[in-house]
Amino acid sequence: MKKAKLILDKDYVISDIDRRVYGSFVEHLGRCVYTGIYEPGHPVSDGQGFRGDVLDLVRKLDLSVIRYPGGNYVSGFNWEDSVGPKEDRPKRLDLAWKTTETNEVGLHEFADWAGKAGTDIMYTVNLGTRGPADAQHLVEYANHKGGSAWSDLRRKNGAEEPFDIKLWCLGNEMDGPWQMGQKTAYEYGRIANEASKMMKWTDGRIETVACGSSNFLMPTFGEWEYTVLNECYDNVDYISLHRYYGNTEGDTADFLASSMDLDEFIRTVASICDAVKGRKHSKKRVDLSLDEWNVWYHSNSQDQDLYERKPWGTALPLLEDVYNFEDALLVGLILITILKNADRVKIACMAQLVNVIAPIMTRPGGGAWAQTIYWPLMQASTFGRGKSLLPQISCEKSDTKNYSGVPMVDAAAVLREDGSLVVFAVNRDLKEAAELSLDLRSFGGFTKASHSVLHHYDVKAANTEAEPDNVVPKELPADPKAESVILPAASWNVLVFS
Ligand code: AHR
Repeated sequence: MKKAKLILDKDYVISDIDRRVYGSFVEHLGRCVYTGIYEPGHPVSDGQGFRGDVLDLVRKLDLSVIRYPGGNYVSGFNWEDSVGPKEDRPKRLDLAWKTTETNEVGLHEFADWAGKAGTDIMYTVNLGTRGPADAQHLVEYANHKGGSAWSDLRRKNGAEEPFDIKLWCLGNEMDGPWQMGQKTAYEYGRIANEASKMMKWTDGRIETVACGSSNFLMPTFGEWEYTVLNECYDNVDYISLHRYYGNTEGDTADFLASSMDLDEFIRTVASICDAVKGRKHSKKRVDLSLDEWNVWYHSNSQDQDLYERKPWGTALPLLEDVYNFEDALLVGLILITILKNADRVKIACMAQLVNVIAPIMTRPGGGAWAQTIYWPLMQASTFGRGKSLLPQISCEKSDTKNYSGVPMVDAAAVLREDGSLVVFAVNRDLKEAAELSLDLRSFGGFTKASHSVLHHYDVKAANTEAEPDNVVPKELPADPKAESVILPAASWNVLVFS
């Protein structure tokens, strides 16, 4: 058996973990909203048409924030279409996903749903085809108490009290040629600055997120962040990062190493923020919002065919990745990476929540079930709140096709408010278990309370409606006195010490 060692000291704190790193994303895309969270007439839907089985699964994730309503969708979206009497709401062509949007679910309905799910909203404004004035109107509509045209319209539409949305994204992926209203970095930086300024003048309690590059590999990466922040640094609070990974080549070792790319991406963007801070001699720090992350590649080939068969359809099964066990391992490694960067990553949203590259799947008229990737997110959100500790890991390292020096074991540690300690650990080795010895030097008399493991002998194993419990975490007997723990080959582990 291979050996690894983890040293933790309660005085070596990376940062408090922001509750909003346990976030998700609901876009008007495919079946995320329609037949995902919302399906009137379904046997377990409530009076508003929200699926109770989906809400149950969402509540167990204990999400702190959900980004809405896009994504690429938002860059052609008129928010005014989504409020007022449902029968008067227009049907619109959504050019981002080549579908027809009915606007049956809009701001009021989503706010009600978010309340039922126990989560805050992170609302994205359209800075693609629209501009700062429209964004300001929306903040006034959503957050101003009353006595102005937009806030009184909200009250007339049935919401006497403001929605009090605290977190706002200033557009979506504005560097991408696929985006409606794509902009240069300078154009976007100026618009983001003006929009954010006017939105904050309307409600001084809100925070805003400027768009970073839509991924690490964009040709304009780096220069985009620097130019955008140079224009809007003083008026925004965060810059966004989006990152998706795939295993198109079927190389599991290389795929599992890709959380190292995320670590580098985070560190690089943080450095650019600090470079702009330095250049401006500013006292303020801009932090990071990783507001789209996940595995995304399984569904790529089937989507094109769907558009051809059902042009401008509604609730098309788009981006419906069926996740397997190795995807869950990478999701665990991504969560570990987020926790290890808790000093800079303050918001993180798994994209997305239901059906569309999602931890939860539904069948129209049928059941709802948890995909493999649901479990590490659920466990991190449940156990990973408190202070992130610096994990000092020594273990064997190896090289993969695209990464060198990949540690066999990666881990994050959380000191919780109740004084208990949680370690999340992944053993990347596909064949051999690892004996992880724990040096909890300054902690004194800790005992191991539990050890939960997510493991399957087949890395391609998935959960389905018929077999929803194929890949689920299992409790291992925890020896309270032992100073080491066995991490099975290819496993995600949650260790609780009390
Ligand atoms: O999450 C799916 C899509 O990925 C989003 O709409 C977009 O922002 C990103 O490119």
